[in-house]
Amino acid sequence: MTIPQGTTVPAVYSPDTALAFIHRQWGRLTGTEGISLAIAHPSTDEALGLMVLLYREEKGVVGIGYWVVPNARRQGFASAAAELLSRWALTEIGISRVEAHVQPDNDASKRTLIAAGFRHEGLLRSYLDYATHRSDALVFSRIQSDL
Ligand SMILES: CC(C)(COP(=O)(O)OP(=O)(O)OC[C@H]1O[C@@H](n2cnc3c(N)ncnc32)[C@H](O)[C@@H]1OP(=O)(O)O)[C@@H](O)C(=O)NCCC(=O)NCCS
Repeated sequence: MTIPQGTTVPAVYSPDTALAFIHRQWGRLTGTEGISLAIAHPSTDEALGLMVLLYREEKGVVGIGYWVVPNARRQGFASAAAELLSRWALTEIGISRVEAHVQPDNDASKRTLIAAGFRHEGLLRSYLDYATHRSDALVFSRIQSDL
């Protein structure tokens, strides 16, 4: 699965679609969807990826999502950002549970969550809906007592 298939990242880049993407991210905060943040390089501040927290239906629960641009991968950025953002949610803004749904073959994402302090809970069968197919989802979570 590519990033545009599972997110609202434009599949075809143009300045207009890129700007519209950024405005959609800002809109998440001003609406009630959640928060969308850039992962920035700690020294250069260059944008390397994205982290979102989106409210689930159940009170106090958010879902976490993320991606990192290919040339910045395997340097610890996603796991550090997921650790930081989930810790902030659980300690500063009254969230009780941060959860993630991951395709079973996405080893990078599974290892990112484990490195960020999440626990694997189980499998939701035929849970994820993509344009061309459905997929099972592994469930991971981090709660306040995991900190
Ligand atoms: C998943 C993703 C965000 C990981 O980003 P990253 O910055 O490379 O991750 P990190 O460098 O923090 O690595 C975290 C762990 O994953 C492992 N990892 C990273 N890429 C991997 C890969 N391709 N295969 C296997 N393990 C991988 C790292 O070795 C590390 O494991 P460790 O802590 O046991 O050493 C990135 O691969 C990506 O953007 N993928 C496409 C989008 C996506 O799948 N998002 C998640 C949807 S649920």
